[in-house]
Amino acid sequence: AAAEKGGFDSFMDKEIHDQPQAIADTLLGRMDASGKLVLDEMNVDESVLKSIDKIVVVACGTAAYAGQVAKYAIEHWCRIPTEVELAHEFRYRDPVVNEKTLVVAVSQSGETMDTIMAVRHARQQGAKVIAICNTYGSTIPRESDAALYTHAGPEVAVASTKAFLSQIVACYLLGLYLAQLRGNKFSDEVQAILTELQAIPDKLAKVLENKQQVIDLAHSQQDTQSVLFLGRHVGYPVAMEGALKLKELAYIHAEGFAAGELKHGPIALIDDGQLVFIVVPTVRGRDSLHAKVISNIQEVRARGANTIVIAEEGDEAVREYASEVIYVPRTPTLLAPLLTTVPLQIFAMELATAKGLNVDQPRNLAKSVTVE
Ligand code: G6P
Repeated sequence: AAAEKGGFDSFMDKEIHDQPQAIADTLLGRMDASGKLVLDEMNVDESVLKSIDKIVVVACGTAAYAGQVAKYAIEHWCRIPTEVELAHEFRYRDPVVNEKTLVVAVSQSGETMDTIMAVRHARQQGAKVIAICNTYGSTIPRESDAALYTHAGPEVAVASTKAFLSQIVACYLLGLYLAQLRGNKFSDEVQAILTELQAIPDKLAKVLENKQQVIDLAHSQQDTQSVLFLGRHVGYPVAMEGALKLKELAYIHAEGFAAGELKHGPIALIDDGQLVFIVVPTVRGRDSLHAKVISNIQEVRARGANTIVIAEEGDEAVREYASEVIYVPRTPTLLAPLLTTVPLQIFAMELATAKGLNVDQPRNLAKSVTVE
């Protein structure tokens, strides 16, 4: 088993470090010489893909957060209304889906029963279903109209890390492909994003090189009882994923919030010493979201919070109200989750390790939940 872990202490540690490769592999072979996206495996009729008027992403757990990121990207690039729903909620609420709906089922294992049931239900309603999956020949891709595989390699640790980032990449590819196919006027932006995606593995390697800061932070927080995560725009699903990782691995109460929601309730939780992570949008983001999140940091800091800020390199404005800043390389706003998630993964893993917990097999959890 030691050899399988490639010299790392756990599968989780290895899988976190596998992420640059997982992303490079998920991108590999998906563009032609001219830089155009070619998704040969997407054998759904192009005319069908051109006629869809709604996308619904269904998934569970971490995969559902990948879907949340996808919503921001796909709606922006394709202008197709996109919803994300937990598969078990979708299945049992009589959702409006028909021949013009594209359902995207995201699942690492391809065997999550809740997601399988959602796929079956969608197809019964006439929807086309595309699976985004990490496991060849598993049930979800077999029962879908087409499959877009993530090439993250086997994920052994129960809590998902490299599969998550790969799912986000596959969702981007799907969105960019649809934008290209539907001849959106954003084609320059599509090309630019594809180039930026290719640069992500190297940037991720840099995030991993800087892990010591996060490790030290985690070890200093061993006795923490509760951690809050705030994010906005694509940082919101990242915040929720950061909270989920901490619950799963370290058994610490954690919650992810949309930063804009803070004043509508969660701010009541802030007290002296409360640990709060804030995922800051890129400076070039839309509609001065950056400034809005800075004022959120200020608000929680003024009430005594210990503020750990994740921001892009060069963002000096965040320093003033941050107890600590974790910098990640610059990338376009919509791609930022591929970088900002990683310090949160490392934080959860290291905190769990400091508490002496088994990070590969947390209590009560299964890698793949094959019952409803
Ligand atoms: C389980 C795992 C999670 C995973 C979820 C969905 O609950 O513990 O880590 O995110 O299932 O799994 P899937 O294989 O469908 O992505």
